[in-house]
Amino acid sequence: MAQDHPLAPSWLSSRSSTDDLEQKLFPDDARREASGSLSISGAEVTRLAEQHGTPLYVLSEEDFRRRARSFREAFGEAFAPEAEVDVFYAGKAFLSTHVARWAAQEGLCVDTASGGELAIALAAGVDPVRIGLHGNNKSDAEIRRALDAGIGRIIADSLDELNRIAQLAQDAGTTAPVMLRLTPGVHASTHEYIATAHEDQKFGLSLSGGRESAAWTAVQKALDAPAIDLRGLHCHIGSQIFEPTGFEVAAQKLIAFLAEIREDRGVELAELDLGGGHGIAYTEADSPRDPREIAEALAATVKQSCTEHGLSVPRISIEPGRAIVGPAGVTLYTVGVQKDVGVDTPDGGSTTRRYVAVDGGMSDNARGVLYDADYSAVLASRKVEGEHTLSRIVGKHCESGDIVVRDVYLPTATERGDILAVPATGAYCHSLSSNYNYLTRPAVVAVKDGASQVLIRRETEEDMLGRDTGFAP
Ligand code: LLP
Repeated sequence: MAQDHPLAPSWLSSRSSTDDLEQKLFPDDARREASGSLSISGAEVTRLAEQHGTPLYVLSEEDFRRRARSFREAFGEAFAPEAEVDVFYAGKAFLSTHVARWAAQEGLCVDTASGGELAIALAAGVDPVRIGLHGNNKSDAEIRRALDAGIGRIIADSLDELNRIAQLAQDAGTTAPVMLRLTPGVHASTHEYIATAHEDQKFGLSLSGGRESAAWTAVQKALDAPAIDLRGLHCHIGSQIFEPTGFEVAAQKLIAFLAEIREDRGVELAELDLGGGHGIAYTEADSPRDPREIAEALAATVKQSCTEHGLSVPRISIEPGRAIVGPAGVTLYTVGVQKDVGVDTPDGGSTTRRYVAVDGGMSDNARGVLYDADYSAVLASRKVEGEHTLSRIVGKHCESGDIVVRDVYLPTATERGDILAVPATGAYCHSLSSNYNYLTRPAVVAVKDGASQVLIRRETEEDMLGRDTGFAP
């Protein structure tokens, strides 16, 4: 049995066996095979690493589809019969044409946040009416493209943008379907939410200030502009949220605003989007709720609030990204150099910390550097019984902050050439990936029934040199 290491965080339990996969962190179809190798959807990671190389992003197609369905069903059932629900998969978490099709096949719409994401969703053949376009600084070209393609909704983020959408739609002789992104003064993260009058951030139109507010002005403009079809209101209150409270408070504020609009203009806006941000487990310390629990709490609050204001329940939409694709993805790395480094302990003693360097790092997972995010890992290529050592998994970049997993117990016998699997990397890892130090970005493969399919191929040195105009092939 491993002893608790003096530098281990209190939430990290020491491990005595590599067998104990923390199932909540992995795709549902991840297993430890008799061979000792981890498998995902029947594909052994040792084979995947041989076939595709490492680092490698592996995505379980079934797990993605199941999570997509579970959001659609949970929210659909919770709001029935009063309202229908559209689930927009937030493509910023991870988007490729295959994944956009999986989402569409599971009955989801696709939320895009730039012309590039929109291009992928359109190239995938997603019905344009089922695509939304977000962004706090959309270019005229992006807005024109959205109008030309006939997408289902443009979410306007500012008065400037609303005016430009109106003008561009009028120029194109069309009507733009618009939602207004409002900042309800509710900000949530993991277990906590804070509610304030003002939100000091770049997104949305503030509700603060009553009839003087940016939100109120935008509603008036949108209702008066002949080229704007104002569908409804939108809010997104944050990321990695575990509790329903923040969503409920934001929904109540938006519903009260819908009632004011009806009072003033006699119009009941038809749609209400409550955003994404549903949390997932990155380490054993995280315990997210089932989508059903969030959906039921939220539906009860929305229905009650609408009844109080004498409104019918608007068509509801949500925009989960991380909670659909995050747990479906695992990153595989090959172990290289290991070092035991002497470290002082808080009580004045000293100990060693094991640094395990892998063949990727902050270029394929920037979340540690950007958000101090915690991850977990297992030795995935073989089963080793016996002692475990507190380890820090680091990358190969020229930065001391290049940490993939801050604290994890790995078998003491972990060796060069072993494969490590870091779970919960399906969201915001590939999409935030870079070329730093000219590492080539990893491939993304989907696994299903023991077979693998490349969704995005590995970047090559030729790709990098192809952009360098000083290189003559
Ligand atoms: N809708 C809107 C308007 C958003 O801004 C976002 C995320 C989502 C939906 C999807 O949120 P999700 O369900 O995936 O949490 N890079 C950060 C997360 C940034 C999220 C930005 N907006 C991270 O890696 O944690």
